[in-house]
Parts: sequence; C-alpha cells; structure tokens
Amino acid sequence: MADTPRISAHSIPPPEATERMRAQAVASYEANHEDVHRVLLLYSGGLDTSVMLKWIQDEYEAEVVTLTVNLGQPGEDYHVVEEKAKRLGAVETYVVDAREEFALEFIAPAIRANAIYGLAYPLFTALGRPLIAKLAVEYARKSGCDTIAHGCTGKGNDQVRIEATVATLAPELKLIAPVRSWAMGRDEEIAYAREHGIPVKGGVESAPYSIDDNLWGRSSEGKWIEDLSHAPEDDVFQLVTRPEEAPDEPEIVTLDFDRGVPVALNGEQLGLVELLERTAELGMKHGVGIVDHIEDRIVGLKVRDIYEVPAAAIILPAHAELEKLVGTIHQNQFKPQLDRQWAYLVYAGLWWEPLRSNLDAYMDSVNEWVTGRIGLKLYKGSARVVTRESPHAVYDAQLATFAESGGLFSQQASPGFIELWSLQSRMAWRLRNE
Ligand code: ARG
Repeated sequence: MADTPRISAHSIPPPEATERMRAQAVASYEANHEDVHRVLLLYSGGLDTSVMLKWIQDEYEAEVVTLTVNLGQPGEDYHVVEEKAKRLGAVETYVVDAREEFALEFIAPAIRANAIYGLAYPLFTALGRPLIAKLAVEYARKSGCDTIAHGCTGKGNDQVRIEATVATLAPELKLIAPVRSWAMGRDEEIAYAREHGIPVKGGVESAPYSIDDNLWGRSSEGKWIEDLSHAPEDDVFQLVTRPEEAPDEPEIVTLDFDRGVPVALNGEQLGLVELLERTAELGMKHGVGIVDHIEDRIVGLKVRDIYEVPAAAIILPAHAELEKLVGTIHQNQFKPQLDRQWAYLVYAGLWWEPLRSNLDAYMDSVNEWVTGRIGLKLYKGSARVVTRESPHAVYDAQLATFAESGGLFSQQASPGFIELWSLQSRMAWRLRNE
C-alpha cells in the first residue's frame, strides 16, 4: 500500500506516523492488511481479546468467528464468554471442551516424560498452546476463515507456540497478533473498551495479574511479580492454600499408575480429567504446589512467574519414584537426559517436531513397566513419597545369599568386583602420587 508509511529498523517514525502505522508482515505466515476477510479469534473473554474482537472488525472490516477452548480453567463460565462474544459482534461462536484430549494426549505424555522445565515449571501453558492452536486451525477451516488471531504479546513464549503450530499444520492460513501491532497501552485499551461498550472489570488502577490456567496448573505474571526482590503477596494465590494456613494434620494419598499414567486416587479408579481435578483439590488443601520461578524464555527475556501446580506437584514426584523403582540403574541414569530434552522442546514451542515423537516412543517403552502404587504424605506445603509398591520393582529385600537370590547375587563376589571396579582409579592415584 503506497500510503502506508514503512519503517526500517534504523529510522524511528515521528509520533503522527506511528498513529497511522499498520503492521507489515515480517514472516510468510503473517497476514497483510488486504489478506484479512474472515478471522478465527482465539477468545478468552478477557479484556485483550474482547477489545480485539471489536478492533479486528473495525481495522480490517473483517468478520470475526470466536473459538474458546476449555482446558479445565477453574471457575470459568463458558456460556457467559460466548454471550459476550455474540454481543461484541462475532458472526459465529464456538466453545470446545478439550479437557479429555488435553489430559490424555498432552498431560499423560508429559507425566511419562517427568516433564519439568528449569527444575520447576511443569509446562501446563506450554502443553495447552499447541492443542489450542490445533483446534484454531480445525475451526478456522470448518468456518471458512482465512486468518487466525490470538491475544499473545510479542514478548512471550505463547506467540511462538501458537504461531509455530498454525504455520506447521495449516500453511494456507494467515495469522495476526493484534497485541503485537496495535500500539495500545493498558490505558488506551480501557478507553477503547469504554468507547465500544466492552465491560471492564476493576479500573485503570487495578491492573490484574496476567493469568493463564488449565487442569495442570496456573501462572501469574505482572504487577509486583516483576520486582525480583518482592516476596509473594497473599492475593496472588487463588488455588493453593498458603502452607502456614494448611491443616495441622497430614494426609496420606495413594496414586495407582498403569504404564506411566495415573489411574486411581486413594484406590478409586478415575478418568484422567477427574483424577487431575481431585488430586489438585488435595494439593490445594495442603498448600502443595507453590512455585516462585525465574525462567529463561525462548525469546531471550527472563521472566518471573508464580505458579500454582497442586496436581503436578503430587503426580510428577509419584511417577518419577515409581519409574525409578522399576528401572535399572542404566535406565535411571539415562532417562533424565531425554526427559529434559522433551521438556525443552515442548517449552520451546516445537510440539510438532518429529524428535518429540521419537522421544515419546522411548518414553512409552520405558513406561510399559511403570505400574504400581505410590503413597505420599501431604503436609503444609510438602508432598513426600512414603510408600512404593510394584509387581515390576527391580527390588528384592532378600538378595542376601546366593541361594536366596536364585543364583543372581553373591556377597562373596563383591571383593572381586571392587578390585576391578576401582582398578583405573587406583592406577591413576598411584601414578599421580609417586
Ligand atoms: N512462563 C510460562 C510459559 O512460558 C507461563 C506463561 C503464561 N502465559 C500467560 N499468558 N500468562 O509457559
């Protein structure tokens, strides 16, 4: 477009030019203004995506179809979200309950891979994004959209996860990320919302935390959390009871695993979605799963997050313990390296990368034997493994004599083993100390 001012990285436009500036596509999958006619918007019902719903209609003269994905966000009323989308002019609205698929196809593999990033983050957001984006592709195709829009900023990992998914699965679709391009701050957004009859909770002063949550956890960013020397304020914890206020009596819970996936809680067989919800409730009650984390984002920045992960903080240690019990020393030495690679790929937005399927094949193979029961004691913020049972445990308390061990082990053989095992170390010691 001839009348659209362009800027290069070296020239800073005058303020009037910024006002009229339209984002130019940088990547091949990004939409130019003239490509956008019918947009599938990933709609949460919050301020950003509500403003976006109106803004896309105005800015592009495009129709907007909304998709809201239920991944088990606690306390969300999807009927209200859908009504709001209709009121703001969406031509079609969809709400998809994807909890089952999320649990079975995303969280279960993460459990088998003991998936933790940066020693602390169980990846709930990172696991949810590829599914949300996959559904966006499905519904964009179904409803005849040419473009997908999301509410991620230009600073985070979520844009990477969503856009990498769309570009991989649907090269024919274009993408817009209005928050990255519209140059509205929070005050302008609120003014825009007021002008267009979009309800604003609180006000300019009461900027909320930036929240993302699903079945596997909840994150809070923003406000004082960005001040690294600021200890967590109580109001950030909306799920987990603060440990100092948790019950004075500990509680024992058991988790049964079948091939690496939890199938029963306290002996009661449950579908995975319900098992995750019920385990989370127990963790919440006992103050389990609070994480205060500095994280290396893929886009270079570091960020501090407050996570509440009551289900993951119980299930992941239980799984790891059972896996360790049924694995050999060699498997147990090796697997954490691949676990880490799995977590990093998923964190980094490459869910669809073939290496992840390769790694999953390995995870499945190890987990074929991860069946049994783990008991944990929950008490004022901690979840500690206290009992283990498995028919496949590579463990035998009786392995004392040759006969008792069925010919597998003899204490008489130990000195010979030690002599050879320490051979190189002894030689080196002698050489260096001569
Ligand atoms: N830091 C986490 C991640 O990158 C959580 C991001 C939460 N997203 C959000 N929009 N608040 O996965």
